[in-house]
Amino acid sequence: MSSGFCPWGSLGLLLSLLAGSLLGRAELQVRVRLRDGRVTEEWLHADSEQDCSSVEYRKEDGTVITLLADYRQGVKIFRALILGELEKGQSQFQALCFVTRLNRNEIIPSESMAKLRQKNPRTVRQAEELRGLEHLSMDVAVNFSKGAQLSFHMHNICSEAREAIYTREEDVRFWLEKGVDSSMFEVLPQSADLPDLLHCKLWSDRWKPCICTYNLTIEWYPCMLKYCKNRDLTGKVSSYKCGIRSCQKSYSFDYYVSQKQLCLWDEET
Ligand SMILES: *[C@@H]1O[C@H](CO)[C@@H](O)[C@H](O)[C@H]1NC(C)=O
Ligand SMILES: *[C@@H]1O[C@H](CO)[C@@H](O)[C@H](O)[C@H]1NC(C)=O
Repeated sequence: MSSGFCPWGSLGLLLSLLAGSLLGRAELQVRVRLRDGRVTEEWLHADSEQDCSSVEYRKEDGTVITLLADYRQGVKIFRALILGELEKGQSQFQALCFVTRLNRNEIIPSESMAKLRQKNPRTVRQAEELRGLEHLSMDVAVNFSKGAQLSFHMHNICSEAREAIYTREEDVRFWLEKGVDSSMFEVLPQSADLPDLLHCKLWSDRWKPCICTYNLTIEWYPCMLKYCKNRDLTGKVSSYKCGIRSCQKSYSFDYYVSQKQLCLWDEET
C-alpha cells in the first residue's frame, strides 16, 4: 500500500489492513441496524497523525459508501462505488466523489476516533440522534490531478472517480479566499444557462444531459463526545471524556451529467 494514508479503499482492502494496525491508527467494526431493520457492518478508521478518519459500509445492492473526514484541511469527501447494471449497458461500476467543507463538531476528532473501543463487538447499534437530510447542489467539477490541494487523500479515495468529482460553488468561494488554485474547478452547466436542463428522472432519453440526484446516508457515526463529571475529595468538579454520541445523517447531492445514462438510479417510479 502507498504510504501516509488515511484509510480508504474497498471493504476487501480494509479487511486485509486489519492485521497491520499501527500506532495512531485504529480500525473498528461496528454492527448497525438500518431503517429497514437489516443489520450491516460499518468500518471506522482513524489516523490521528494524519488527522483523518473514515466511515465505510456496503449497501445491500453492493454499493460501497465511504465518508472520509480530513480534519487538517477541513474537508470531507463522500464516495459511492456503485455497481453498474450491465444489462442496461453500464460499466462494471461507477464511482462518485463529493467534496465539501467539514464543519467543526460534525464528527469527533480523529484522536478520539482512534481511541474508540467497544465492549461487545456483536452489539447492534442505532444512531441516537437523527440529523435529517441535507440537500447539496454540487455545481462545480474538481480536476482530479489538482485536487490534492484540497485534500491529499483525494488521490486515494477518488482515483476511481476521476471524471466525477464534484463540489459546491459556495465551498469553492471559501477555498479561493484561502488561496487555493482556481484552475482545478470547472463550473458545470446550470438550469439557468440551459433551459432544457431537467432532472434526469424527467427524461426518458438516455443520451440527454440532465441533473442527477444521488442520495446516501451515513447510518451511524460518532458525532459528539460525551463528558462525565468527576468530584474529587475536596469537592472540586472536573469533567472528562467518557463516551460518544452517535448520529445518522442523509445527504442528497444534485449534479450535472452529460447523459442520463450515467444516472440510471434516478428513475421516475
Ligand atoms: C486537469 O489538470 C491536468 C493537469 O494540469 C490537465 O492536464 C488536465 O487536462 C485537466 N483535466 C481537465 C478535465 O480539465
Ligand atoms: C433522494 O431523496 C429525496 C428526498 O428524500 C427524494 O425526494 C428523491 O426521490 C431521492 N432520489 C433518489 C434518486 O433516490
